[in-house]
Amino acid sequence: MKTINILIGLTLMTLVLTGAQAGPPGIADEDLGLSKSTVFDTPSPEAFAYGEASPGSGNTLPRAYTGAPPQIPHSIQGFVPVTVRNNACVGCHNNPAMWGQKTKGVPTPMPPSHYTDTRHAPGNVTKKLIGARFVCTQCHVPQASVQPLVDNTF
Ligand code: HEC
Ligand code: HEC
Repeated sequence: MKTINILIGLTLMTLVLTGAQAGPPGIADEDLGLSKSTVFDTPSPEAFAYGEASPGSGNTLPRAYTGAPPQIPHSIQGFVPVTVRNNACVGCHNNPAMWGQKTKGVPTPMPPSHYTDTRHAPGNVTKKLIGARFVCTQCHVPQASVQPLVDNTF
């Protein structure tokens, strides 16, 4: 009985000792993410303002990459939040009859992709705005001159 107790004691001690051994040094928290600061910092990003051009008087920017949602070239003050009852964007931009025509000062018609249910009927372009595109600001953001928070090589 005694030997068994001693054996159990020894095994437990070995387990405790192995567990307490220091592993390889962990990754410092400032090396974990893209922002090279620690999670304990309270960052104060530079303040920025959105453009104030009213619809029709703004200037469009080149797309960030092929297929990227264009940035909104005008102020959206008063148009957000987009709700079921209130979607000013649709009021101006819902115009399939004007597909492919871009005229400065005239609301750019939403493209055919916005009338295509890509999940259930890809390739079937309708004349009805698809619900998945209803909340425009989910993908489109107003222009603003902001310094990127982190470098980007994309
Ligand atoms: C009063 C009409 C009006 C409203 C409301 C409006 N827009 Fe526009 N929008 C325009 C006009 C006009 C243009 C054409 C560019 C210009 O001349 O400003 C435009 C251009 C755009 C473009 C095209 C950018 C490009 O590069 O081709 C996007 C995207 C856009 N608006 C998104 C929105 C979103 C999102 C909302 C709602 C939050 C919205 N607009 C509300 C009139 C409007
Ligand atoms: C799920 C993301 C998404 C949502 C939501 C969305 N868009 Fe877009 N939009 C895009 C992308 C991506 C493009 C560019 C590629 C393309 O033409 O389909 C685009 C292009 C556009 C353009 C440019 C058309 C042109 O010919 O240059 C307009 C205008 C526009 N969207 C308006 C809107 C409005 C208004 C809404 C809300 C009713 C909206 N979008 C909702 C992703 C989105």
